[in-house]
Order: sequence, then structure tokens, then C-alpha cells
Amino acid sequence: MTVTPPPSNALHYTGLAPGVPAARDPFARARQLHVQLRYHAGRYYNDDAPVIEDGQYDALLRELRRLEADYPGCRNPDSPTQRIAGDPADGFTQVRHPTPMFSLGNAFDREGLEAWHRRVTDLLDGQPFRMVAELKIDGLAVRLTYRNGRLALGATRGNGQTGEDVTRNLRTVRSIPLILSGHPPAALEVRGEVYLPLDSFKQMNAERERRGEPLYANPRNTGAGAIRQLDPKVTQSRNLQMWVYSLNDAGDAPLPGSHWAALETLKSYGFRINPLNRLFDTVAEVCDFYSEMLQRRHEWNYEADGVVVKVDSIAQQNSLGVAGREPRWAIAYKFPAERATTRLRDIVINVGRTGSLNPQAILEPVVVSGATVQHASLHNEEDIHRKDIRIGDTVIIERAGDVIPHVIGPVDAPGRESRPVFRMPAHCPVCKTAVVKVEGDAMHRCPNSACPARFFESLKHFVSRGAMDIDGLGEQWCRILIDQGLVSDASHLYQLTREQLTALDRMGDRLSTRILNNIAASKQRPLARILFALGILHVGAEVAELLAAHYASIDHIAAASIDELTEIDGIGPRIAESIAGYFAAERNRQTIDGLKDAGVKLWQELAPVDLSALPWKGQTFVITGTLSSMTRREAEGKVKALGAAATSSVTRKTSWLVAGAAPGSKLATAERLGVPVLDEDGLLALLDNPDHIAAGTILSADAAPTPSAGPAALALGE
Ligand code: IVH
Repeated sequence: MTVTPPPSNALHYTGLAPGVPAARDPFARARQLHVQLRYHAGRYYNDDAPVIEDGQYDALLRELRRLEADYPGCRNPDSPTQRIAGDPADGFTQVRHPTPMFSLGNAFDREGLEAWHRRVTDLLDGQPFRMVAELKIDGLAVRLTYRNGRLALGATRGNGQTGEDVTRNLRTVRSIPLILSGHPPAALEVRGEVYLPLDSFKQMNAERERRGEPLYANPRNTGAGAIRQLDPKVTQSRNLQMWVYSLNDAGDAPLPGSHWAALETLKSYGFRINPLNRLFDTVAEVCDFYSEMLQRRHEWNYEADGVVVKVDSIAQQNSLGVAGREPRWAIAYKFPAERATTRLRDIVINVGRTGSLNPQAILEPVVVSGATVQHASLHNEEDIHRKDIRIGDTVIIERAGDVIPHVIGPVDAPGRESRPVFRMPAHCPVCKTAVVKVEGDAMHRCPNSACPARFFESLKHFVSRGAMDIDGLGEQWCRILIDQGLVSDASHLYQLTREQLTALDRMGDRLSTRILNNIAASKQRPLARILFALGILHVGAEVAELLAAHYASIDHIAAASIDELTEIDGIGPRIAESIAGYFAAERNRQTIDGLKDAGVKLWQELAPVDLSALPWKGQTFVITGTLSSMTRREAEGKVKALGAAATSSVTRKTSWLVAGAAPGSKLATAERLGVPVLDEDGLLALLDNPDHIAAGTILSADAAPTPSAGPAALALGE
């Protein structure tokens, strides 16, 4: 980055009014340094246009640190020295977003964008409207809340309704102001995209390559991982950045009348606003902008996967409203997935954790959207045959956003039919057991649960985040522990000693301590995590949660019959059979016993629930149609958790019908029988205030309007 020479106006150079000398009083000097450092950080991180050298900035920071050390009273949480990472956290708190964090509808070509423009024109009765076009940043959406100009909360998008409080981590992101400049309102909420700069990503991967560690797949997931780090120091070391793209709430203060004005205002508060944003009148101009951005997409230090087009006027945005999870006033005009052609050198088989034989394409290396691709996924034998892909073919590969590149198909070339058709091996390439292919399952599988390849994948899964989360024990250490004969069952991890670990090449004292501490900490993971970590076929994180919600311990689950298991909503016969089969196998029983002996907690304390004390006891809900913020099953779970019953047919005894989009005949039945109807907003309002049912402050049936996209169909009493 080049340094712009200091302008003649000293204000720009120091961030202080011209001619102000360095204060003698340490407190006043500290305040001066705060102003200066914040000013220069803004020029550096937000505008990419520093006005002083890095060394000068560091000298100011050092001066402030010294001052704070000599006069601790000078130090306060707003100081630029305090953008430091605190101690690791145990987990993140869930936070509900005051308004949902929406998704965007997509257009994939000019026609799609023009169709959106026509729709908006119709909905606005032919009124003209201006549009703001912005890059669609491929990162992680976050919401920032400021109180009295100070950063109070930073949260991830999560499922759009509820995210995680990652404030401590976001405080380490330099382009997120901790204190706002200008005249911000007392309450402010902004949203934007946090991302890992491409140069940081490349540097991280270069270091991993040097250390012989597996490479991170893409900047998006690596950045998302950095935000969700329990240790803010790790987040800080990743050098994340943020582009802010909307002003969502300003409390009682008046909001700007246009999105463009809002972006200008946000800039004046010190937020980093993408300088490529543009304001246009016509769709043709937007298309030209899109073409220019598409051409320039590799110029930037971040990934963009399209252009977001937004109606500029906030009044027009409000009149257009939201359909489901997508505002009608915005659209993402996506860049095409990038394709390339290269030669398919070979097809190799990787054996997955569940024994699946996963074919992988080995390609002549080729650059696609800035990344060198040498491997691509080929789903299964059937897919390879359908696309007629043969080794030696020139194939088209595609890389879209963050997904693993995949092979689209072969390029027609004379003589390619003479090459042999690909066949899955009859025996597992690792343990040589005969492969099985069950009717209805697309995958060929190695049935040997002791297959070393399966075990390696299982161990990797066992220690991974979301499972036992044993940080420090990455893929390469799993491989080494297996190869050294130290671990041939997940439970052996808990018997590892410091001596065994430090005897391994490149394993120092610090790393072995970290690994041993993390292994010990993993003994206390919640039951659902352990169930997930075991890698039972068809038991993903969601099914594991269902099981943990129904059973107090692993022993209870192991003893459950297939019939009992299928009684759980969300567990069908295929999953139930797999669970029962898992616990029936001797090898798996040994693993469980080993975990038990090692002191891994395989049970949970269940808080005694007094059903009669639940506020919705005696109420019966029927939920129909499509809800936008949750699935029907989730909604049923929520009403059940409050003591209500959830049934499927509407009768006179039904207390409430919740009708989502396209509700079908149940709505008519409810209206005929006089059953009160709630729309989704009404249900959410009731879930937020569950005691209102008990308090009898619900509107009567005839006052409840029919479901609509309008405001909540339910008014809650005072
Ligand atoms: S506007 C209308 N603007 O894209 C409200 N989103 O598919 C939606 N994104 O999760 C957000 N760049 O995180 C908006 N300039 C931009 C964006 C952007 C990236 C992400 C956003 C959201 C996703 C929606």
C-alpha cells in the first residue's frame, strides 16, 4: 500500500486540529493519542489510504502503551490499545436478531435481472426508482449494535432469526470501529460482511504447506472459522476485514431516506463502505456495472460472487416488503461459476468414515477463479456413467464459490469411446474386503468397520469441531497416532501420555500440553456431541440432538429397540436400524466401554420438568403451510416445549391453528369450526410472550385475522 503524503492541513496528518501541541498532562495526552490513532486506523483500514508510515503509527501506539503503563488510570476500555484479544471462551451465547437477517433472491443472467426490474416497477405502479449496486461479498454476514457510539454487540447471522454473540472476536477486527466518529444516534444497528482477505488466506496456506499440514479449502470457510474461534487471539491473528452494507436501525433517530444516503452516513461514523458501490437509474447501467465487475473480479483482495442490486428509496423498499426470507427490493445478480477444461489423469477411491467409496478426479492442475485445482469430486459410479466420464478425457470442471470443484462432463473428442468405462473396485482399496452395494443406496461401501481407512476418517471426525472438538489434534496427527500404533480405537486417545506424545517428531511440550488438555476437556462434552462424534451412519448433528433430547444416556439409547427409536419424531426406520446396528456390533461396544473407562461422560443430567407448570399445558396446536423462519417440526418442538400438544388434524378441540404460506384445507376447517388462526408472526409473538396464553389476554377467535404476509395476526394484551 502506498502512503499518501501528508496533506498541508495538519488535521489530516494528526487527526487533531492544526497547531495543537502534544498535551503535557498524561490524561489529556492519552485522549489526544486516542483521537490520532483512531483517525489513522480509519485511513489505513477503511480507506486503504494511510497518511502516515506504519512506523509512525506504531510509535504513537507505543507512546500510548507506555503512558497507560505509567498511569494506569489513563487506560479505559475504549483505548486503541484495548483492541486485544481476551481469554478463550467456553462457547457462544445465542442471540435473537431484532429483525430477521434476510437472504437474497438470485438472478443468473440479464433476463433475470430485467424480470426483477419489471416486477418491482409493477409493484410500484410504474413509479421510477433508483438502484444501488454493490459487490456481493463472499464472507460471513454479521450484525453490529452500537450503544451511545460504542460497539455493544456483534452477532453472526446463524439461521437468520438467531445467531451467536461473537462480540469479543469482532472487537479484534480492525475495520470494525469500537467507537463511532461523527454524530451517531444513541442506538445503531448495522449489518455487513466479514471476510478473510485473500492475501491472508494465501499466507496461511503457504505456512501450512511448509509445515506439511493439509491446506484450508477456501477463504470463506476459513474466515467463518476464525470468527467462530473460542480464542479471540486466533481471530485477531487472521487479520479479518469487514464491509458494511446496511443501516438497519437508528432507534428513535430519523433514518436517511435512501440507502445511498445511509451508506454515506455510515461512512461518516467510521464504517468501512465499499468504494465500488454505485447509484444508477436504469437497468442497462446496472448491467454495464455488472459486466465491469465480472471482468475485474480477480483484482480485489476478497472474493465476490455477484452484484447486489437494491432499490435506493427506503419508502419504496418498505412498500415492496419481504416475500418469505427475501426482500422484494433487492436481488443478487450472480457471477457465473467459473469453468475450465483439463485432462482427467485418474480416478482414485477414498474410503469415507461410513465406508463409502468416494471417487475423486485427479486432474492436470488448472487455475479456476484464482485457485489451482488438481482434485475434483465425482459423486458415485452411477453419476460417472450418466455423464460418461472416462480416464484420459478432457473434462470441464466448475468451481462455484466455496464448494469443492466438480466435474461437469467430458469434452467430446474423437476416439474417446474406445477408452474403458470406469468401474468401482470389487474390493476395498485399503483393507481388501469385498465391497457391497445396496439397492437404493447410490454409494458402494466397504462393510469392514475395522478398515484402517474408515478408522482414520472416523478419528478425524471424532476430534473435529462440532464433535469432540479436540483442538490441536489435526488430520496429520491422527494419521501419525494411527501409524505409530498408539491409537486404533477412539477411546485410546484418552490413554495417551505426555511421554508418548513428546516422543513424536515435531511434537513439542507446548503442543502436547495443549492436546492433552483438550482431550481431557472433551470428556465433558454434551451427550449429543458424543453421539455425533461416534460417526454412526445417518446420525448427523441434528439426529444426535433428537436422541439426546429423548434419552438420558448412551446406555439407554443402546438398549432402545428399533420400534422405540422410530417413535421419535424425525427418526425413521432407516436411521433407527443404523443406530441399533451400531450398538449391536462388538467393536463399537468396545469403543463405548473404552470411553466409559476413560471417564468420558456418556450421560446427561436432565433437569426435572414439572409438566403441570408449563404455560401452555392443555393447549393444542395444529401447524400447517410453510413457515419462513423455521420448519413445521421446529415450530411443533417449540410449542411442545411450552407444554402444548401438537397434532395434525383440526377439530373443535384445537386451541390454535398456525397457518404458514399455502396452508391448504386446514385453514378452511379451522375457520368453519371457529378455531383461532395465527400467522407466523403471531406464533413468534406468542412464543416470545408464552405467559400471555395463561393470562388469557389472547384475542378471541373472530378477532384473529386470516394469515397474511402482513403484521402479526395476534395482538397481545398489556
Ligand atoms: S444485502 C437484503 N448486500 O449475501 C438484505 N448482502 O444472500 C440482505 N451479502 O447473507 C443483505 N454482500 O451476507 C447484502 N452487498 C451486500 C452483500 C450481501 C454479501 C451476503 C449477505 C447475505 C447474503 C444474502
